[in-house]
Amino acid sequence: MTAAIYVFDAYGTLFNVHAAVARHRDAIGEHADRLSDLWRSKQLEYTWTRTLMGAYRDFRVLTAEALDFAAARFGGIDTATRAALLAAYETLDAYADAKPCLAALKAQGAQLAILSNGTPAMLENATRAAGLNDLFDALLSVDVLQAFKTEPRAYELVTQRFQAKPDAVTFLSSNRWDIAGARRFGFRPVWVNRTSQPNEYADLPPVKTIKSLAELPGLETEPSPLT
Ligand code: LAC
Repeated sequence: MTAAIYVFDAYGTLFNVHAAVARHRDAIGEHADRLSDLWRSKQLEYTWTRTLMGAYRDFRVLTAEALDFAAARFGGIDTATRAALLAAYETLDAYADAKPCLAALKAQGAQLAILSNGTPAMLENATRAAGLNDLFDALLSVDVLQAFKTEPRAYELVTQRFQAKPDAVTFLSSNRWDIAGARRFGFRPVWVNRTSQPNEYADLPPVKTIKSLAELPGLETEPSPLT
């Protein structure tokens, strides 16, 4: 029997994207939470627009550009705070459920990978800072493609790396749009709906929805056919 393959989105799924602002909340002031939300949504918007335009810039650059927009929208931040937020983004906190889940899957003999929009250096930094680097067989970055998820070639990086069919891959993401892209590609996507978001992309559903990665080890992920 071949080993099960579990592939994780990075930002929002393993790493808390709001951890950077949380560390520098006092320097930002009353708009900190709204700035953090807008920073994330602009960062994602830039990945989709630049992929559609064929005008790639890497995720570290887009993260900085999105921060600059969000900061301008909420009255600006000083240069030191900007630098501190971007540095913090390199070493975001992992969610508390990430390491126990990965360790349990590893102990079961699973193969584990990250598939992320993040650059290879960002993924190295984040996994090392969170003490997760020894648990992964592969850190797969879309940077080699110069295109972001949900471009199908992004998901193909996984099937190429593991020489596996798409339906052999269980894919974890907290981003519903990423679950849709993964389902369209043929993975078994499991939606980590940490914040009880409403469902969307109804034609491209997850095979399972969980609230925490603690529910993953032992979870049955056999897909039901798309209707
Ligand atoms: C990632 C972003 C989409 O890690 O969260 O790919």
